[in-house]
Amino acid sequence: MNVTIIGAGYVGLLSGACLAEKGHRVSCVDISQQLVEQLNQGKPHIYEAGLAELLGRALDSGRFRATTDLDSSLDRCDLVIVAVGTPSENGVIDLSSIVQISRRIGLYLRTRDRHLSIVIKSTVVPGTTDTLVRSEIASASGKDFPSFGLGMNPEFLREGNAISDFMEPDRIVLGYEDDKTLQLLEELYAPWEADKIRVNTRTAELIKYANNILLATQVSTVNEIANLAAALGNIDVMDVVRAVHLDKRWNPILEKGRVTPGILSYLVPGCGFGGSCFPKDLQALRSQGREKGIPMHMLNAILKVNDSQPRQVVDTIAHELGDLTGKTALVLGLSFKPGTDDVRESASLKIVRSLLQKGVKVIAHDPVATHNFKTALGTPGDKLHYVDSWTENVDKADIVIVATAWPEYQELSQLHLEGKVVFDARRMFQPSAFTKGKYLSIGRRMS
Ligand SMILES: NC(=O)c1ccc[n+]([C@@H]2O[C@H](COP(=O)([O-])OP(=O)(O)OC[C@H]3O[C@@H](n4cnc5c(N)ncnc54)[C@H](O)[C@@H]3O)[C@@H](O)[C@H]2O)c1
Repeated sequence: MNVTIIGAGYVGLLSGACLAEKGHRVSCVDISQQLVEQLNQGKPHIYEAGLAELLGRALDSGRFRATTDLDSSLDRCDLVIVAVGTPSENGVIDLSSIVQISRRIGLYLRTRDRHLSIVIKSTVVPGTTDTLVRSEIASASGKDFPSFGLGMNPEFLREGNAISDFMEPDRIVLGYEDDKTLQLLEELYAPWEADKIRVNTRTAELIKYANNILLATQVSTVNEIANLAAALGNIDVMDVVRAVHLDKRWNPILEKGRVTPGILSYLVPGCGFGGSCFPKDLQALRSQGREKGIPMHMLNAILKVNDSQPRQVVDTIAHELGDLTGKTALVLGLSFKPGTDDVRESASLKIVRSLLQKGVKVIAHDPVATHNFKTALGTPGDKLHYVDSWTENVDKADIVIVATAWPEYQELSQLHLEGKVVFDARRMFQPSAFTKGKYLSIGRRMS
């Protein structure tokens, strides 16, 4: 099947390369000429394990190409997938790219006598596809729905596991407004055997938000419990969490033993969730709910807890050491989670800013995200240095903060940490592993 994907970012590129791997012919359209050239040379602009190889195979097969030429891509395709960004603008979803694309497709259709199905993959608030997208295409094309098709196919991939999430999904949501679009979506996903949910587009849109909200709820709830445990003292919240994880409703006992479902990884205290999805998606739905007269108390609470969670790190260290001026902190991990170079809404941004404000010299390390972090943070002066080798810089630090759980940081517990404070913001370590240095973390204040 010939598919056009508009937007060659995380989702567009990953989806495009995976669809090509499954035999579809994919044209990925982006406005960035530089990005398009890079992709056609087989060089992904994002870090994701296995992506360079996957893209290489897709290009070699002749089934994938990137382009800036939307019209000629549309000429050759049956189905258009829209995967442009839908950022948050003051807590409200910014749908300007979706509107722009809808108008462009409408203008294309104005002069063509042909059918095209437009499927939104970007995360958009419920009602976007069947109202906004529909009306923009209709007015730009001068043709009414259903002379064009409409669909919504939310994406659930997780950065860091994106390829396996796309290739072996737990479910595929096929949102559609017309039978022709459903038929095309069925054909697109025919090579996948996952459970398929067929619903209208606004239901598909809400499924994506409900999914993210319920995951984020676990994170903020466990973080609030962790903060209480620390305030009470003499409780390590990990003991609490481990016991909760063994509740058979979370972690069923089958014949072969415990299942240990993935949801449990969201029930671990830390310095908060980040990334390009959770924060903006929760804000977008909160804003939509309020517009509809629903106060969205839960979303408000989840976001509030998360917003202040990175503060726990610097506040706890300051409580332990007093004035931090002139101290040196080694911050390990800058991406919002391991396995990606994405720093959008990363807790490390808040932690580093707060350390610098307190007069701390910061040495920062990440295996892949340093470049993006520098751009996101701006130019903070001469108190911040980025390093390629973190192990060579441990000696220079008074404080070591593990802010992202990259597996390579496990080595920290084997290093000489005499006289240093280690802050484990992701609960990666057993406290007993740090016999020489002082171990601090979220949800634990032993007196
Ligand atoms: N990143 C994730 O893990 C993830 C997961 C699920 C859903 N989503 C959703 O998918 C959507 C895309 O997210 P992303 O992380 O891939 O964004 P991104 O910012 O990485 O990529 C967006 C791409 O769209 C391109 N673009 C913007 N306007 C364009 C236009 N008019 N024509 C052609 N290309 C254009 C940009 O140049 C960019 O390359 C968002 O709605 C996001 O919420 C993201």
